Amino acid sequence: MSTATLDAAPSDADAIESFTVTLIIRRFDPDADDEPRWQDFDVEMFATDRILDALHKIKWEQDGSLTFRRSCAHGICGSDAMRINGRNRLACKTLIKDLDISKPIYVEAIKGLPLEKDLIVDMEPFFASYREVQPFLQARTMPGAGKERVQSVVDRARFDDTTKCILCAACTSSCPVFWTDGQYFGPAAIVNAHRFIFDSRDDEAKVRLDILGGKDGVWRCRTTFNCTEACPRGIQVTQAIAEVKSALMRGTA
Ligand code: SF4
Ligand code: FES
Repeated sequence: MSTATLDAAPSDADAIESFTVTLIIRRFDPDADDEPRWQDFDVEMFATDRILDALHKIKWEQDGSLTFRRSCAHGICGSDAMRINGRNRLACKTLIKDLDISKPIYVEAIKGLPLEKDLIVDMEPFFASYREVQPFLQARTMPGAGKERVQSVVDRARFDDTTKCILCAACTSSCPVFWTDGQYFGPAAIVNAHRFIFDSRDDEAKVRLDILGGKDGVWRCRTTFNCTEACPRGIQVTQAIAEVKSALMRGTA
């Protein structure tokens, strides 16, 4: 084998093409700003880059004060939900080439939760609703010595979809009822209640149904489907809410 082939430097034809994209980011520094303001950044990106890569590039090369949350960078931790061109998405799951790069890309914090800084909101009201629906297994009976708590495939399938939630808040913060009235539990809390209400091993479905049947529960939902469209995990959020409503009408899961 010729070593010349192995040692050859990449030619211009092999170079991966880059492009310049403009991000317009809604900034807010509570120590300096009375109101949020929009700021433009031009960044050199590649087709495989995501919005999270662009934010990193801006932070590392242009403005270290740009503030946003991220952790896993692979759509699992749920920490980088933001509004990108007016739609709730995970920055780490949004390829820049899938957006219209002939125009600037607008990036801002999710709505309906208190803005803390740049792309970061206070998630505490979101997690308070989550905690309120008791999102953990509560089994009052023991399966018997040496036995497992068995569940049929059909019973497991009833809540399979809602096990996928990563608590990113993309659904709740895209809900117009949640925007106008922060008291509503919101889609994510209902999804996580659904996960246990329909689990045949759990004995406290009634408690959760009572919570969600109250004035701030599922009946506030106006079936706009924003939540389902926003969910990066493809969870049928509106359907889950409808199933909880049906269980309430029946009086049982
Ligand atoms: S249901 Fe989907 S959009 Fe809502 S918090 Fe869970 S993963 Fe995020
Ligand atoms: S950084 Fe973890 S979901 Fe995007």
